[in-house]
Amino acid sequence: MKNLISMRDLSADKILQLLALAESLEKDPTQLDLSRRVMAAVFYEASTRTRMSFESAMKRLGGEVIAMVGTSGTSVEKGETLADTTKVIARYSDIIVIRHPLEGAARYVSEQVSIPVVNAGDGANQHPTQSLLDLYTIQKAQGTLEGLKLALVGDLKYGRTVHSLAYALAQFNPEFFFVSPKSLSMPIHILNDLSRMGVKFKEKTKLNKIVDDIDIMYVTRIQRERFPDREEYEKVKNAYIITADLLKNAKDNLKVMHPLPRVNEITTDVDSTKYAYYFDQAENGIYMRQAILATLLGEVK
Ligand code: CP
Repeated sequence: MKNLISMRDLSADKILQLLALAESLEKDPTQLDLSRRVMAAVFYEASTRTRMSFESAMKRLGGEVIAMVGTSGTSVEKGETLADTTKVIARYSDIIVIRHPLEGAARYVSEQVSIPVVNAGDGANQHPTQSLLDLYTIQKAQGTLEGLKLALVGDLKYGRTVHSLAYALAQFNPEFFFVSPKSLSMPIHILNDLSRMGVKFKEKTKLNKIVDDIDIMYVTRIQRERFPDREEYEKVKNAYIITADLLKNAKDNLKVMHPLPRVNEITTDVDSTKYAYYFDQAENGIYMRQAILATLLGEVK
């Protein structure tokens, strides 16, 4: 495993190895020492969780971090290309974690540099480290990844986390409900891939009829910044709002997840229910990202 660009590049065995390492690092973070290793966080797009949990993960393992937080004040403003910027950063660091608005940007960078590259989100395409921490979270909550019923809810067109998660779970015999407004449905190429893989899924526009039947409700924000037309966003922005009342007959083991940030998709009265799991999910980013960094830096025997 040289880079982490897409969930489609990872076998079920490799996913389970990363989950096991994350679990082990959560129990004992002192087992690995990344001192004298430098991670470059190269974020062309906004982030709170991904960048800060990667930085925290690296520092807690003794490593160092350099960061580009947005392009303001960098030589990107002078017209420097992505290739030149990352070729130089690769000489200052041992691993690059990159978020960029263009689909395919992380793979492109991995072809420009000789150090490992991690895709921290490329446009509406993929967010594989989020999916790995989501899998870790699901396994902790449900005790297994196998045979679960999951509703992926919200912006399935532009939401990169749900694209990666659908591929990630496809190897574990899931039953998916893809719940979205018709204009924000899961891209057809992903549905075709899932069909070829024999994955069971149904597309829905309403959530209330399936709430009581699922193990995981994975809610996503409507991705305002990716809409070409502001009026289209206004039409769908409040399409699904999860309240404590909606969950009153849910299964005991249901967990509500969200990659965050939320805007108004989940009301705060859900936070104090046994179903809320999104803040635990965010914390799990530390352990999974430690596992990813250590693996790609060749520190795992
Ligand atoms: N989940 C996630 O990617 O959050 P950030 O955009 O804050 O990194």
